[in-house]
Parts: sequence; structure tokens; C-alpha cells
Amino acid sequence: MSATSPVRPVLPPDIRARKGSAPLVVLTAYSTPVARLVDAHCDIVLVGDSVGMVIHGLPSTLGVTMEMMILHGRAVVRGAQKAMPVIDMPFGSYEESPEQAFRNAARLMAETGAPAVKLEGGVHMAETIAFLTARGVPVMAHVGLTPQAVNTLGGYKVVGREGEAEKVMADARAVEAAGAFAVVLEKVPEGLAGRITEALSIPTIGIGAGVACDGQVLVVDDMLGLFTDFRPKFVKRYAELGKAADEAIAAYAAEVRARSFPAAEHSFPDVVPVKK
Ligand code: KIV
Repeated sequence: MSATSPVRPVLPPDIRARKGSAPLVVLTAYSTPVARLVDAHCDIVLVGDSVGMVIHGLPSTLGVTMEMMILHGRAVVRGAQKAMPVIDMPFGSYEESPEQAFRNAARLMAETGAPAVKLEGGVHMAETIAFLTARGVPVMAHVGLTPQAVNTLGGYKVVGREGEAEKVMADARAVEAAGAFAVVLEKVPEGLAGRITEALSIPTIGIGAGVACDGQVLVVDDMLGLFTDFRPKFVKRYAELGKAADEAIAAYAAEVRARSFPAAEHSFPDVVPVKK
């Protein structure tokens, strides 16, 4: 591609066509600068409803609103040139009826410019996914551990061991049949995730679901190590930015207290020096 020709953005059919080929790389982002960093290396940039916990300090994703998803969605779309932005539908915005889901999905797409949405749920959301996909809303599904159902699941547990495996397989098959272009498998045992990946014709994107999935997703703040107190087993920390930020802020505070910051090079002289 020449320097002047625009980069063609990734769209849902491109993601679907990647089934069984090079692994899909997905990270979350909630702001323009982080979306730019993610865009350079990833296929999809997910505006997850994890934004509520990561950015807004909420105890779960249940308090996330349409307004929050639109605000962060717009910021991310501005930063994504090539990777495909996908916006999470927040809790309460799609479960009531397919019509409610369509209204809110259309609003997310129209007001952010993102070409796709993600929603949680398997068999019980299949009718809604079919309704949306038939009306021009590409849907990424999300089964296994569905964090919006944390209170009915009884915690952020692995979902799909022993007797639960067939239910997770049925959920994955249902969202595929309903027209989802990809499905996130969260905290699903690795053997089951592998069997689901083999059984489906759409890409599976794992988070805590082992290496057999067609792609992987992580929350960007987790993999960058921005939190010092949150270390789930499925997150590999590729950096320790939380520690680096803590050290930088401590150094700044010490220098301000010692009056060694700002130094002359950070200050403006009263008279502009004459250039020789
Ligand atoms: O909200 C989110 O960030 C997600 C990913 C973890 C899959 O749904």
C-alpha cells in the first residue's frame, strides 16, 4: 500500500474469514491514545464494559451505562485507523427484547462510528443476535463466564467444567447459528475451548480459555500491569506500568517538596535570551 492510499479498516467479514488462519489479536482500549497504541498491533480494539471497573472504579460491570460506552467508544474510534472497534453493550441495554437490543446497538454504532457490538449470553440471547444481524448489526458474542451475570453465576468462576461443558458448547453453537461473526470464550477450560473452536465455523477469541482459540483478548490495563493488586491467573503481565508510575509519582512528589522541580530548564526566564 502506498503512503497516500488510505488503510482499509478491518470489518466483521474479515474477522470471520480469519477462522483457522493466523491468530486474531485483540485488546481493550477506552481512550484515543491507548487505541492508537493498540491499533498498531491488533486486529480488533474492544471497548469493553470493563471500562466501568478499570477507568471508573466500579465494583463490577453492572453499573456501566450507554452514555459511558458512547463516550469511550467515540474516543477509541478516533484512535483506530485499521483495527476494528467493537463496542460492548452494557448490562440492561439488550436483554429485555430484540427491539430494545436493536435500538441500543444502532445508537452505539451511529453515535460512535464502530462497525460492531458485543453482547453476553448464549442460547437465551440467540433470538436477539439473529434479530440484530438480520438488521445490519454485526455481533460478537460472549459465552462461558459472562461478567454481567456475576450475581447469578456466584462469582468470576471458570465456567464449563464437567456437567457444564455441554451447556457452554450449546451456547457457542447457538450464537454461531444466530449469525455472530465471532465469539469470546471467557474462563472456559482449555480442552473445552479447543473442542468449541474445532466445532464452530466462526472464530473463537479466548480470555482465560487456553491457546487453542482462534484469537486472544486481554484487558489492556491488566497486561500492562497498571494494577498492583489485581493478578488473575489468565493475565500475563507484559509490563509493570503501575510500578513505574508509582515510582515516577513518588519522585515528582519528593522533588516538589525539596523544591528541586521545576529546574531552570522547565521555567521561563523574565527576559528572552538573545540567540547568537
Ligand atoms: O469488557 C471486557 O473487557 C470484555 C473482555 C474482557 C472480553 O468483555
